[in-house]
Amino acid sequence: MAVDLLLGLQWGDEGKGKIVDVLTANYDIIARFQGGPNAGHTLEFDGIKHVLRTIPSGIFHPNAINIIGNGVVMDPVVFQREIEGLQNFNIDIPSRLLLSRKAHLILPTHRLLDAASEASKGKAKIGSTLKGIGPTYMDKTGRNGLRIGDIELFDFKERYRALADKHEEMIKFYDVELLYSLSEMEEEFFEAIEQLKQLTFIDSEAYLNQALKEGKTILAEGAQGSLLDIDFGTYPFVTSSNTTAAGACTGLGIAPNRVKDVYGIFKAYTTRVGSGPFPTELFDEDGATMAKVGNEFGSVTGRARRCGWLDLVALKYAVQINGVTELYMMKGDVLSGFEKLQVCTAYKYNGEVLNHFPYNIEPENVEPIYTEMKGWQADLTGMTTYEELPIELKNYIEFIEKELEVPIKVVSVGPDRTQTITR
Ligand code: GDP
Ligand code: IMO
Ligand code: MG
Repeated sequence: MAVDLLLGLQWGDEGKGKIVDVLTANYDIIARFQGGPNAGHTLEFDGIKHVLRTIPSGIFHPNAINIIGNGVVMDPVVFQREIEGLQNFNIDIPSRLLLSRKAHLILPTHRLLDAASEASKGKAKIGSTLKGIGPTYMDKTGRNGLRIGDIELFDFKERYRALADKHEEMIKFYDVELLYSLSEMEEEFFEAIEQLKQLTFIDSEAYLNQALKEGKTILAEGAQGSLLDIDFGTYPFVTSSNTTAAGACTGLGIAPNRVKDVYGIFKAYTTRVGSGPFPTELFDEDGATMAKVGNEFGSVTGRARRCGWLDLVALKYAVQINGVTELYMMKGDVLSGFEKLQVCTAYKYNGEVLNHFPYNIEPENVEPIYTEMKGWQADLTGMTTYEELPIELKNYIEFIEKELEVPIKVVSVGPDRTQTITR
């Protein structure tokens, strides 16, 4: 059997949580392969809204196994709170959620280093979620990190101390003012580590490959989005992992030839949270309307998300890098009521017309070229079939499909599980 991937194609928050929850009915295993608690994946059903951070979005389905893969970085403290949030839902966590021994641990000092690094950058800051993501991946690639499997070692505490002491020296180097009590943070950390030991640690690459042999179906759940990828995103305003398709192979130990479908998910417009270039960003009434109607506030930090028109140059790039086979369009309902919609189909780049995503998309180099389309007025949130959708929306969908040369298979018209139209 094969592995399918669900990936965000923009700057994150496309609606991955909702769609993974919807798709879980078709899979035996849901696996996260990168990122950490910088992610906030929202799902809604039966009138309840959940935000998951490290736990895969298949956790509410009784028949699915959820795996946190080796490519993930996990903060035991945040994770503990997430587990507590699931207490009332009658989920047998130790049997339904399995953790890779090779996933890296976010230490309290990684969070402090993230804060120190951002503070030292001033206006040039990345706009990190301050969850310690960058410093943890730096320790991973620098070959200094601690992994979940290390918790089982007799000298885990000494290893921890050596790394945390080194981090404290590094924090001093930044020479910024940080108010914190490391001893309190450490107390919380070690309590969470004790809780973590109640869960099931596995060699997840062996588990997943065995599952494939047995004919099980696997969906890999991406975090962040393609434009935040460490290699292909808008560097340096990116996260510290490969959010694109290849990341699923390295983050789970699955060979490229086992990957079958790649579901690419995007909003009908564009949002971004944190710093960095965003060619189609709107600073006017239209942007404010998208933010308000779409409730565009970060699910992790509560920060307002920047909003703008759909950018097909960026989307085309993401489709190509990931090998997307099916598209899922989210939040179409948010665009109801606009007289006219703009879609960016090319960039004017240093005076020339460019159809591909260049090295640098800073505003001084890039100006979007738009195609105008007619908007629709109807409220979509109660619609359940493709036929019911307004003709202007169908035209919008067909235009995107033609430009991207990939079919749009799902149109989402609201945050709830049931507000999902399959064509
Ligand atoms: P993720 O990080 O990709 O899982 O996305 P987030 O959960 O951070 O952000 C997506 C937000 O949009 C969440 O609040 C969802 O509940 C909401 N959402 C998802 N799909 C739709 C949709 O089709 N319409 C509307 N109005 N909201 C949606
Ligand atoms: P999900 O999975 C949106 C952004 C941050 C910042 C940059 C680097 O919910 O889509 P980091 O904390 O990784 O060092 O931050 O990346 N960012 C996200 N934006 N959705 C996310 O995750 C994000 N995770 C990180 O705002 O600009
Ligand atoms: Mg999110």
